[in-house]
Amino acid sequence: MAEAEADLVARDRDIIWHPATHFDDLGRLPPIAIARAAGCWLHDVEGRPILDAIASWWTSIHGHCFPPIVEAITEAAARLDHVMFAGFTHAAAVELAEALVASAPPGYGRVFYADCGSAAVEIALKISFQSRLLAGEGERRRFATLANSYHGETLGALALCGSDTYRETFSPLLMPALRLPAPDLANHGLADAGPDAGADHPETDRAIALLEAHAAELSALVVEPMVQCAGKMRMTGGGFYRRICEAAQALGIHVIADEIAVGFGRTGRLFASAWAGVRPDFLCLSKGLSGGVLPLAAVLIREGLDALFRGGPERSFAHSHTFTGNPIACAAGLASLRALTEGGLLARLPGRAEALAEAAARVRGACPAIARHRQIGMIVAFDVDAPAGHPALPRLGLELRRAALTHGVLLRPLHDTIYWMPPLSIADDELDALATRTIASVQEVLG
Ligand SMILES: Cc1ncc(COP(=O)(O)O)c(C=O)c1O
Repeated sequence: MAEAEADLVARDRDIIWHPATHFDDLGRLPPIAIARAAGCWLHDVEGRPILDAIASWWTSIHGHCFPPIVEAITEAAARLDHVMFAGFTHAAAVELAEALVASAPPGYGRVFYADCGSAAVEIALKISFQSRLLAGEGERRRFATLANSYHGETLGALALCGSDTYRETFSPLLMPALRLPAPDLANHGLADAGPDAGADHPETDRAIALLEAHAAELSALVVEPMVQCAGKMRMTGGGFYRRICEAAQALGIHVIADEIAVGFGRTGRLFASAWAGVRPDFLCLSKGLSGGVLPLAAVLIREGLDALFRGGPERSFAHSHTFTGNPIACAAGLASLRALTEGGLLARLPGRAEALAEAAARVRGACPAIARHRQIGMIVAFDVDAPAGHPALPRLGLELRRAALTHGVLLRPLHDTIYWMPPLSIADDELDALATRTIASVQEVLG
């Protein structure tokens, strides 16, 4: 490690508490000091390039420092940095809300802004529940969620997470959710991942039976459409998604779609819900919403639901976040959405997904340790098998991540699941480099 980097990392070690990081791992895998980024590449303070194969936690859909977004936020920051969003409004927030409603599945009437995905989920939960109170349905106070799901880490969102990894420590603090089974569609390739996948899976009928049995107490079903990203990229299918949502809505249960990870082109379509033919009552968006540049989230709310909240201050939704509707973040959101739609990125996605599939096939062919694989749109996942007793096994994800970084690629495996979720704009030569470097990393750790 060169001097400048060593100094920064040492100062970091003394003062920073990093997310999703064990203190004891910092000696083996210290944070990498990044100086700048462009496109699919991060550059550390020594100038070493690292291919960002996970779009920095699934956010950077156009690649880093994408010029149209940089220009939009530079202009926005010079004009209006921030104004509180209670009692004030501004063009960027209104235009972005209009553009979101116009491009989402039909039927949304309101947009509530927040600044991270977890906050968006909290907002949807709270509006759903309060609407029940206001409608005289206070017995509907529970939420249904999928086994293995992930919705964020504030307490309300965490209560809905299906994975014990995130939930267990805090379980005494969490509301009890109804957990529904979901299909795990292993080994599906690009062509199998369509909107009907999982429709006739036995788990689909079991999930619907649970919804029926508990309908009277359920305010909403909260669901990640098609892919449980933090849940080891388990793919549940568009057909499963459509059927459980249709069943929920027929039972008067709201559907809260969490497209925080899969929205904005990740599944190959702008929104997974539209592809699957689902019209959620609430659509939670974040991550790619601002092009991955600034913290921004939005909840799209079904037309007419706000009517319940009129009629007196005691009926209002008492919820706010300080940076709600920040003008610079909204300007980034508008520039990002325009580049996706008018700028043609969305139209280029089928070709990008095919190229991704070819790169993934190369990796599978070269790495016998890969036991299972799957792809939908611009998400690829490989599950690796390590023989019992393999020295890397206890911390397989960490070992694979470390090896990948030595090969100049940012992977962040979820234990034995390696995945790619690169910027949607990734070029053919970058995919080639990604495949070569992934192969070298897997072979180094697992042979
Ligand atoms: C599906 C899903 N929902 C919610 C969240 C939480 O978003 P945030 O980390 O911005 O709070 C995430 C984050 O990864 C996510 O993948």
